[in-house]
Amino acid sequence: NPIQAPQIDKCGNSTYDTSAGVATQINCCPPFTGTIIDYKLPNFPKTKVRPSAHRLSPEYLFKFNTAVDRMRRLPKDDPRSFMQQANIHCAYCNGGYDQPGQGTLDLQVHNGWLFFPFHRWYLYFYERILGKLIGDPTFALPFWNWDNPKGMTIPPAFIDPKSALYDAKRNPDNMPPAVVDLGFTGSTDPLQVVSNNLTIMYTEMVRGNSDVYDFMGKAYREGTPVNPGPGSSERGSHTAIHAFVGDYKNQPAGEDMGNFYSAGRDPLFYSHHSNVDRMWTLWQFFLPSNKIPDKKITDPDFLNTAFLFYDENAQLVRVTVKDCLDNLKMGFEYERVDLPWLDYRP
Ligand code: C2O
Repeated sequence: NPIQAPQIDKCGNSTYDTSAGVATQINCCPPFTGTIIDYKLPNFPKTKVRPSAHRLSPEYLFKFNTAVDRMRRLPKDDPRSFMQQANIHCAYCNGGYDQPGQGTLDLQVHNGWLFFPFHRWYLYFYERILGKLIGDPTFALPFWNWDNPKGMTIPPAFIDPKSALYDAKRNPDNMPPAVVDLGFTGSTDPLQVVSNNLTIMYTEMVRGNSDVYDFMGKAYREGTPVNPGPGSSERGSHTAIHAFVGDYKNQPAGEDMGNFYSAGRDPLFYSHHSNVDRMWTLWQFFLPSNKIPDKKITDPDFLNTAFLFYDENAQLVRVTVKDCLDNLKMGFEYERVDLPWLDYRP
């Protein structure tokens, strides 16, 4: 059976380990006031285009910054507020919820086939909330283009301490011009790191996958213990970026980006995941594969998995995986940029 939407009224403490191995409890539960509505995707008169965070116009950046600033100023108990949005990730990923009907078996959206769908829905509502706060329903969440050499540093828009996009809890050694190291090479030669990054992208997007689960992650259904197995992109570039930005040196648990419980507290998280989501669209619709002719998972346990989110009107809604498999039906696409890794066979 598919995993059902979590029971928010039974949300409990979330747990994370510090780098020193100390188990720590935190309450990340959302406010819960009552009715849940089955979400219906609206009709989109126009497709939003998520832009590359490294190429934002000053006007766009101003809009983005204003929206996040307003989100930070919402009352703490508003489910759309900055901290409540961050806590969504904590509750879904650090054991705040149990799988409904499965005793104390944790619900965990990472390391399996729910990874892409969960984060797509998460960003979908985050983006709509930002749009609502600036009265611009066409607002589209920028993506951090870390798969392209031109985007392999933290985007400058995020490092101005006066900006709402800033977060103090990041690895100070990895500020621009430090180059992201998708393969944890530890090399100090930027050209070598860039070249290795491109090899990694080619491997996890094209060469290394022999079936749909290699990319999407392993089956995770009712009763499955947590972490059945991540897909290539989740395990690889996705995790490497979290580790690159998180501050393991000065913070107890790699805050913010280096730990599930705190990752959503860094505005960069959402642009990171915008690119992760972009990888999913590229893999689905742009990369031909003779090894995996059919890139769809048709298993009803996958398609009918449900999550809960608050929408831009602070209405609690229930969404399903099957409704998020096509980004165009969700009203957004990505700015077209070069894919230099596409021909980067090692
Ligand atoms: Cu939910 Cu990048 O982790």
